[in-house]
Amino acid sequence: RVLRGRPLDLAGRKIVISAGGTREAIDPVRFIGNRSSGLQGYALARTAVARGAEVTLVAANTTLPDPAGAKVVRVESTAELREAVLEASAGADAVVMAAAVADFRPATRQDSKIKKTDGEPEPILLTKNPDILAELGERRRAARDAQAGAEAPGVIVGFAAETDDVLANGQAKLARKGCDLLVVNQVGEGLAFGTPDNAATVLVAGGEPVEVPFGPKEDLADVVWDLVAARIS
Ligand code: CTP
Ligand code: CA
Repeated sequence: RVLRGRPLDLAGRKIVISAGGTREAIDPVRFIGNRSSGLQGYALARTAVARGAEVTLVAANTTLPDPAGAKVVRVESTAELREAVLEASAGADAVVMAAAVADFRPATRQDSKIKKTDGEPEPILLTKNPDILAELGERRRAARDAQAGAEAPGVIVGFAAETDDVLANGQAKLARKGCDLLVVNQVGEGLAFGTPDNAATVLVAGGEPVEVPFGPKEDLADVVWDLVAARIS
């Protein structure tokens, strides 16, 4: 059976997708954020639903309409995204980390709005956030060692935005994070962020990279699902 021109090759599969960009509070009214619109993650969610998957979309600060047929969990910070992704991914067939996750957060969150004073402002000290993708990879490694299987996601997909040495940085990142696929975008000069089209190279652990030409984010999503479906079965 085919739905909207797509195979139902993810029927009954439990898939978790993160989308958007996390925000880290400085005080009650201000945050550190990034330019991710969530368009690629939402395209992944729509296409996965169309291919029959049971989708949980963990959406960080997006303004897009909920994709029909997906369960949407809204989050703001990296800590919230981590909670939601780890909870949904226990026993999932695949997890795709399309969200732009803040690498750092303010070391302390001020309880009151920071006021202008006569002198120069205090610097904002930053601290490192946990790496959720690397954590998923480690959980899976641990589950395989213990042959416990069910608590770790089956297939793990990361995204990477790079401005320089795109492929070399991407290959190193794929290995470091222990994922199966890494979708590498070149960013800068108006590429990728907030636009409906994208071009990418999908790096494959133990395989040849797949080039996806410039086109709708749904097309890139379908290439990801082709590769994921082959790894699930
Ligand atoms: N990621 C994550 N947790 C973080 C940072 C990133 O899960 N704290 C995930 C992203 O969702 C993405 C992948 O890791 O799928 C790669 O993100 P990227 O920012 O390119 O990699 P980093 O390891 O953060 O390296 P850098 O920003 O220094 O290039
Ligand atoms: Ca990063």
